[in-house]
Amino acid sequence: MLALLEGCNSSKIITADIIDSDMVVPLADFEIKKGNTGKFEQHIVVQNEKLQYPICVYRFDENNYEALLMKCTHQGTELQVFGDKLQCPAHGSEFNNHGKVQNGPANTSLRTFPVTIANNQLKISLK
Ligand code: FES
Repeated sequence: MLALLEGCNSSKIITADIIDSDMVVPLADFEIKKGNTGKFEQHIVVQNEKLQYPICVYRFDENNYEALLMKCTHQGTELQVFGDKLQCPAHGSEFNNHGKVQNGPANTSLRTFPVTIANNQLKISLK
């Protein structure tokens, strides 16, 4: 049980720059060290002091990402990431890696942000 919990809490957390209204995340931040082994994080948690909540970015493949605001749509508690789902510590709502509700009491999807890829960077539009 302990090992399982440790594994679940091992999200990589990075602080990213915000340029204009885009959060910019180098694709290299998804690489699981070292020396370009071809292995990638399934998700990373991205934060910036200007954001009240962090954003969880899931990587499905090199061209497909999902950026989700880690704010519970029930009463606004910050979510926790457990592998391919996000859970709310307040009342137990659960969301999948596209932000869809899997368990209430929340009944609306998480906020998602458009993601574009250019120059080996993800641009997450915060508009
Ligand atoms: S605030 Fe998240 S379930 Fe209530």
